[in-house]
Amino acid sequence: MTDFPSDPKPAQDRDPNSLYGGTQKRRITIHDLAKAKLRNERWPMLTAYDATMAGLLDESGIPVLLVGDSAGMLVHGHDTTLPVTVDDLIPLTAAVVRGSSRAMVVADLPFGSYQESPEQALRTATRFLKETGAQAVKLEGGQRVAPQIEALVAAGIPVMGHVGLTPQSVHAFGGYRVQGRGDQAQTLIDDAVAVQEAGAFAVVLEVVPAVLAERVTKELLIPTIGIGAGNGTDAQVLVWQDLLGLTGGRTAKFVKPYLDLRGLIGRAVGDWATDVASGAYPNLDQSYD
Ligand code: KIV
Repeated sequence: MTDFPSDPKPAQDRDPNSLYGGTQKRRITIHDLAKAKLRNERWPMLTAYDATMAGLLDESGIPVLLVGDSAGMLVHGHDTTLPVTVDDLIPLTAAVVRGSSRAMVVADLPFGSYQESPEQALRTATRFLKETGAQAVKLEGGQRVAPQIEALVAAGIPVMGHVGLTPQSVHAFGGYRVQGRGDQAQTLIDDAVAVQEAGAFAVVLEVVPAVLAERVTKELLIPTIGIGAGNGTDAQVLVWQDLLGLTGGRTAKFVKPYLDLRGLIGRAVGDWATDVASGAYPNLDQSYD
């Protein structure tokens, strides 16, 4: 059995075929995700933007890593995902692939790199698969991007859909607001069905009412991956900095930090800086003869 340094589950509790903590010695595939839906297995997905974190999350048994365009904020310091380019995400995605060996790596297609036409989407997705080694791509939108999804799937490129609060449309939504409430519910269902019918292997449901996300999950044959969509979806995704408490300022309602990494880093850096100032670091043990 593979040893997980962070020991996500005791060895005796691990199902060797399960997505989380399973012992497959190869990358997780879209077929593994389809089988998990059939056996009602819930699974976790996290973002990753560099090789070190990808390696840690992979060793922890996370089966799917998303190189999200949230890198725009978390890596590049933008206010939204809109300025992110293909050239920004290609090196990050390649690093995540190099840093992991078991997780399926999904690359987000940035704003403006697929909306124009199925041909543009195919050119962009082809670059990601050729230049990074990612196994799949994700794009935002429902019925309006169905032709793009069909073109990619026809070319043999696995596609993850994304409906609900799609951050690349933040200005059209007038802010980061819950989607699919009231009269909008049917449109969201139609969008999720359109993504499935176009051939996507899974779909992210972002910031939608829990009851609606559960209904979509029951209607679809492909796995649903929730973020701010309650606990009735097949999987959950989070930005790793939110999960581990590194994100500063106000976080979304759905974020539950499992660690205070921001506080831990602040204290460790403060301790080191104090030792530098006092001359306590480095001491003889940390010095060469
Ligand atoms: O860019 C991203 O990180 C995402 C997930 C949060 C779903 O799209």
